[in-house]
Amino acid sequence: MAIERTFSILKPDATARNLTGAVNALIEKAGLRIIAQKRIRMTREQAETFYAVHKARPFFGELVEFMISAPVVVQVLEGENAVLKYREIMGATDPSKAADGTIRKLHAKSVGENSVHGSDATDTAAVEIVQFFSGNEIVG
Ligand code: GTP
Ligand code: MG
Repeated sequence: MAIERTFSILKPDATARNLTGAVNALIEKAGLRIIAQKRIRMTREQAETFYAVHKARPFFGELVEFMISAPVVVQVLEGENAVLKYREIMGATDPSKAADGTIRKLHAKSVGENSVHGSDATDTAAVEIVQFFSGNEIVG
C-alpha cells in the first residue's frame, strides 16, 4: 500500500461548534498524520476556485456562501491509502446516509453543512494542496 497525501478541510459548521479537536482525534485515531494545518478565513474567490467542479450545480451559490461564512481549518493528511481512508472515516456526503462512527455521522448537520472535505483522488489532492499550502508549510 502506498503512502499518500490528501487534502482536508474542517468546514465552518465544525469550527463554529469548536469541533476541531474532536475531528482531529478521529483523523489521528484512523492512523492518518496531520502534516500541515492552518485556520483561515476562505475568500469568495478561493471557495469558487476550490469548488469550480460544482459550478453548474443548483447548490453552488449556497456552498460558496457556507464556505466563507466562518473560519475553516485546512490540512494535509498523510498515511497509507490516505485518500480512500479519509473518505471512509468522513462518511457519506449526506450525514443521514453516513455509517456509524464516521465524522459526518457523528458531527455533520446536513448535506450542505457536513463538517469536512476530503479529496476524491491523489491527483485532485495534489491540486488542492498547492491551492492552500506552500512546500515549507508541509512537514511530513
Ligand atoms: P467534499 O469532500 O466537500 O467535496 O464532499 P463530497 O465529495 O462528499 O461531496 P461532493 O463533492 O459531491 O459535494 C461537495 C460539497 O457540496 C458537499 O460536501 C456539500 O457541502 C455540498 N453539497 C453537495 N450536495 C449538496 C446539496 O444538495 N445541497 C447543498 N446545500 N450542498 C450540497
Ligand atoms: Mg467532493
